[in-house]
Amino acid sequence: MDIMNIRKREFPITESKVFLNHAAVSPIPARSAEAIKRFVEDKVKAQLTRDSDNLEYWWNKIINAKKLFSMLIGAKENEIAFIPNTTFGLNLIAQMIPYKADSNVVTNTLEYISNVIVWLKLREKGIEVRIVKDIDGKISIDSLEKNIDNATAVVAIGQVCWYNGFRHDLKAISEIAHERGSLLAVDGIQAVGNMKINVEKDEIDFLSAGSYKWLLGPSGAGFLYIREELIDELNPPILSEESIDPEAYRKCLYEEFALFDLKYSAGIGKYQVTHVNDLAYVGVEESMRLILDFGIENIEERIKLLDDYLIDRLLECGCKLQTPLGENEHHAIVNFKVKDIDRLLDFLSKNGIIVSKRVGGIRVSPHFYNTEEEIDRFIDALKMAYA
Ligand SMILES: Cc1ncc(COP(=O)(O)O)c(C=O)c1O
Repeated sequence: MDIMNIRKREFPITESKVFLNHAAVSPIPARSAEAIKRFVEDKVKAQLTRDSDNLEYWWNKIINAKKLFSMLIGAKENEIAFIPNTTFGLNLIAQMIPYKADSNVVTNTLEYISNVIVWLKLREKGIEVRIVKDIDGKISIDSLEKNIDNATAVVAIGQVCWYNGFRHDLKAISEIAHERGSLLAVDGIQAVGNMKINVEKDEIDFLSAGSYKWLLGPSGAGFLYIREELIDELNPPILSEESIDPEAYRKCLYEEFALFDLKYSAGIGKYQVTHVNDLAYVGVEESMRLILDFGIENIEERIKLLDDYLIDRLLECGCKLQTPLGENEHHAIVNFKVKDIDRLLDFLSKNGIIVSKRVGGIRVSPHFYNTEEEIDRFIDALKMAYA
């Protein structure tokens, strides 16, 4: 697939803006918007209840979103639950793990707010929360290893750091965690859609991700992966109709009250929110098809090329990077320090260039459909702003 065709067909934003802000909220491809529009039109005609002609078509599309997500992270389809967003999934994970009185959990200072607060809340139950400090924007395996012990219930890590792009070695972390009897929970929103992930190979126990960043989907369509063996072993902290035994549900709905005991349904459905944001899943299903058609390995490779090009150009300009530059130490997100950030952001925005201010620097996050020419335009604007 040719990048120029993809830009023209799917990303009309490229005609008017240089959008380098996929770590924030991304534009959705035209094909995803078209699918949502068709779905809305059908909803206007029918309620998409049992009698609607197209129910099966749309429902299959929504269910297919799980399949496509599972392909992107190397999971099985029956290990994926629909959830509204990343933070919701992280909350579920934090609350479903069985803790002992002396349990601790380990997170770190490179995590986004969501992947800290859900763990800090556990302090209300007397659980120790260890926050490993980064050094120069990096978390070393050594520093994690020193904090993970036999009482560590879970290690919480974002695959790619939300503000500087630091890329954790999940395989190395899961080995340490599992050796000490703890679980590995991954915040995947800054990685799924921009790099190949393999939950099986990296032995990840949980992964939560929304889809409005690198998956190029709308808000409200999130995914929670739970490793197969844990699905039955654990129970959800909050329930939906899908969480309960389908026979009790059926009886209650059609015959008589039948809920004198709580019996869970089998499988991933028990963790799932019912009556999901169907429009959003229809949209992200299309977006993920685009991603998979282009190939996630190709996307990872292209983003690396764009990042390397951007880093070289920033270094040429004498910018101080907050992104660690070692081999395999970063991915997708580049952050550099500047003085007068707000003035720069304003200048860039007036020139149609979209990036973000994060943690004392400018965060630039190109996706596969961006080009080196767009990076050049960004660098030229940067030079002009300080001329
Ligand atoms: C790493 C990370 N985790 C979680 C979130 C919040 O995601 P959601 O809105 O899907 O809960 C963000 C948002 O920026 C993020 O960057």
